[in-house]
Amino acid sequence: MLLLLLLLFKGLPCHGASTVAPLLLGFRHPASEEPLSFRFVQISSFANHSCAHIQASGWLGDVQTHVLDSVSGTIRFLRPWSQGTFSKQELKNLEALLLLYLHSFNKEVQAFASQFQFEYPFELQVLSGCQMHAGKASESFLNGAYQGSDFLSFQGNSWKPSPGAGSRAQNVCRVLNHYRIIKEIVQSLLSDICPRFLAGLLEAGKSELEQQDGNSIFLMLICLTIIVTLVLLVVVDSWFRKQSSNQNILSLHVPNPAFSTRVNIQDPKNSGHQLCLAQEFWIKNRFLKNWKTSLKQLW
Ligand SMILES: *[C@@H]1O[C@H](CO)[C@@H](O)[C@H](O)[C@H]1NC(C)=O
Repeated sequence: MLLLLLLLFKGLPCHGASTVAPLLLGFRHPASEEPLSFRFVQISSFANHSCAHIQASGWLGDVQTHVLDSVSGTIRFLRPWSQGTFSKQELKNLEALLLLYLHSFNKEVQAFASQFQFEYPFELQVLSGCQMHAGKASESFLNGAYQGSDFLSFQGNSWKPSPGAGSRAQNVCRVLNHYRIIKEIVQSLLSDICPRFLAGLLEAGKSELEQQDGNSIFLMLICLTIIVTLVLLVVVDSWFRKQSSNQNILSLHVPNPAFSTRVNIQDPKNSGHQLCLAQEFWIKNRFLKNWKTSLKQLW
């Protein structure tokens, strides 16, 4: 019965919730301690010595704001406010730097693959960005993974191998630490440019995000009303079934009325909780699907 309810709920026109939910989950946390973050995600896949793919995207919390268009070799701004408050010139410089980096990254990795003992096929991931706590202090991070495992990170002003990443990571960090200019650029990107860009995104996106916040409350109310109505229907329905099963032998064919009665009447709190969990699960699934679709668009 609960399953049926969920199936019904899935078909109801609450689609807005699936696009708004990530905004709520990942972006606006004025009261909670959840920090606001801007993250740059890079995934480089190396099939062999001559073939490599790169995917890159920018995220404000869980909201995707930027994507690398690998066909045109440019960065696409996915939201009207994705440019933040940076000037055209600043953005142009930043984009040029990023594209140069992405282009060089694959080439350099291919060139150093055997020295670094990277074994084809392999995948490298970079997660970098910055986050704000209570709108003030910021914290930056850059982590690299090899084949899905922690490999190295940028700490302070140098590259550090991850614990357990072995001599391969130590070797890579030793080489990377020789490039002082690169370290300075990374440091300035992480500790200066990223926090400023994040603050600008928050400022530029404020009105849209607030609006999507006022819509989501409305949608949540609609969904809540529907859920309450459905739960009531189920309760009433199973009550009637129970009544009729007392009088009518035929109703023994009704699938498990005792179960639905127990869940829905005797423990309404629990069933409500399960419903919320299932709904949350579904919303997350929807978001994951959207995310996968947008990742696929990169290919
Ligand atoms: C490299 O990998 C790509 C994609 O898997 C494949 O099409 C290509 O033939 C491979 N090239 C070599 C030299 O192995």
